Amino acid sequence: MSDQSTPTADHSTFYTPSAEVMSRARVQNWEALKAESDADPMGFWAARANELGWYQKWDTVLDDSNKPFFKWFVGGKTNIVHNAIDRHQSTHRKNKLAYIWEGEDGSQRFVSFAELNTEVSKFANVLKSLGVKKGDRVTIYMGRVVELPIAMLACAKLGAIHSVVYGGFSTEALKGRILDSQSTVLITCDGANVSGKRIELKAICDGAIDAESPIKTMVVYKRTGHDVPMVEGRDFWWHDLMKNASPKCETEVMDAEDPMFILYTSGSTGKPKALVHTHGGYSVYTYTTFRYVFDIQDEDRYWCAADPGWITGHSYIVYAPLMNGATSIIYEGGPSYPAPDRWWNIVAKYGVTILYTAPTAIRGLMRFGADWPAKHDLSSLRLLGSVGEPINPEAWRWFYENIGGSRCPIMDTWWQTETGGFMITPMPVVPLKPGSGTRPFFTLKAEIVDENGEAVAPETEGYLTILGPWPGMARTIYGDSARYAQTYWSRFPGRYFTGDSARMDKDGYYWIIGRVDDVLKVSGYRFGTAEIESALVSHPAVAEAAVIGLPHEVRGNAIYGYVLLRQGHNDSPELREELRAHVAKLVGPIAKPEKVTIVDRLPKTRSGKIMRRLLKAREQGLPEGDISTLEE
Ligand code: PRX
Repeated sequence: MSDQSTPTADHSTFYTPSAEVMSRARVQNWEALKAESDADPMGFWAARANELGWYQKWDTVLDDSNKPFFKWFVGGKTNIVHNAIDRHQSTHRKNKLAYIWEGEDGSQRFVSFAELNTEVSKFANVLKSLGVKKGDRVTIYMGRVVELPIAMLACAKLGAIHSVVYGGFSTEALKGRILDSQSTVLITCDGANVSGKRIELKAICDGAIDAESPIKTMVVYKRTGHDVPMVEGRDFWWHDLMKNASPKCETEVMDAEDPMFILYTSGSTGKPKALVHTHGGYSVYTYTTFRYVFDIQDEDRYWCAADPGWITGHSYIVYAPLMNGATSIIYEGGPSYPAPDRWWNIVAKYGVTILYTAPTAIRGLMRFGADWPAKHDLSSLRLLGSVGEPINPEAWRWFYENIGGSRCPIMDTWWQTETGGFMITPMPVVPLKPGSGTRPFFTLKAEIVDENGEAVAPETEGYLTILGPWPGMARTIYGDSARYAQTYWSRFPGRYFTGDSARMDKDGYYWIIGRVDDVLKVSGYRFGTAEIESALVSHPAVAEAAVIGLPHEVRGNAIYGYVLLRQGHNDSPELREELRAHVAKLVGPIAKPEKVTIVDRLPKTRSGKIMRRLLKAREQGLPEGDISTLEE
């Protein structure tokens, strides 16, 4: 049933965290707190919510009267910016660093919570002057600069809904997301520096705006400084608008359930869906999971090497670290630029204590060998983290031994854009098994079920479901609540369906196997096969297309496309190359297929559904399994 290769799971060996890590952990008795929170989830979440600031406390912790549209902290008034920035202004954290930023060119910036407050307030006033108000959507398409979190926070401060589109997506992907969200303002940079190359962000934005576009204004932050054309009356430089902006701006009082941001992610249809996250529940959930799992302390220097444009960045670069008053590192560029020890250099330079990254990055850096990290003093590290896809035991051990010095437990956090925050995850005191996210977070219950929704026995592969709601859950799909209910809550009524297959071992540890829907994880990035297929089919030579993912040493999965040509077009190496480039151009360079094969026909069921499973088996030379539904 799985779509992905399974790491050889070693279900028996435990790695026990070191006495030093354990002794200082915030949560000492995990079992006790887990049992207590499971017995009284509402009590647990109310207590966590009480650690944050509210303009007005809630009346009801959970309203489940209209399932699956759950509401949390109903009647509560807050704003995530109140907790992320405002409340630190009257404590010692005012002068603490919120962000340490390093450009790929080596330039640095040190931004305190006070300065962040000033910049966010000024930019919020800029947005106001452009007509942005509560509930409006703003699209953000930027490189990894501090202005990306500043733009996000400024939107949230006003109660506007940000829609961040990852800076690695191409014109069409950006255009579709702008249209769907009906954003009127687009915030971008002239360009971004990644791995010694310049990404033409502004040019991509120009291409995404046509006569039908709802965008009225584009704000451009100058990063690369190269010449970019500016459209009179539509495009404005960030620095020009900021010049006279007032540094004082009231934070908008929001209902706990008011939407805070939308974030597009891929599903099983061609159209990406925007998950909606809120001010109240999302704040409480991300604040709490971060605090417990990364055991964040005031003196930590925390580095999440993901991009702020993904959910990992939203939750664990921007909002949760700021709400916890943490100092974070943001690095602009590529991990092996100019040399494969760039990351290790950053860890040593800033004394990073917690490093959170993805298996694909670990595998990529592992290829260069352990001599590169060995050149640097990595002894400041205390905890490591992994997210985005199953981590194979080999990469786990390399990370553990060569980066963590066999001292730092790895928090393998399983979660999704939809869940808002960590769901199945260790904590510093939990014994680890390489490749397993261990057990569900406080108050959560996960269950692995068969086709009929019946729980399966331990060690049996099945569908991963979550029982019961949690505060960080996405509330709906923007503009399509029917699709939300259908995608996540209908397959197994009363449960949240994750789209993943998994197994639980006899110790109650969960092992994620991979997606069971038509979603692919490539370098941790999420794509729908239908998204890539529709990009292929938009090429004039293509009549029909099918896409599958096959195991790849570094990227986890690589994309393989199978294409049926229209009459008058013939197979050639040039055409195949053109089709690969076409996908990269439309969706983004990260979606470029590894290989495109021209075929005479595609294996389909009698009802016309492409049998991707069969394409996969054939490509890998594996048994074809049940082909009784195959059309003659
Ligand atoms: O398949 C799981 C995989 O990533 C999917 C969610 O993707 P996305 O919404 O892009 O969010 C990624 C960052 C939170 C999941 O359905 N996944 C995520 N984390 C892990 C994982 N698979 C195994 N282990 C993980 N730690």
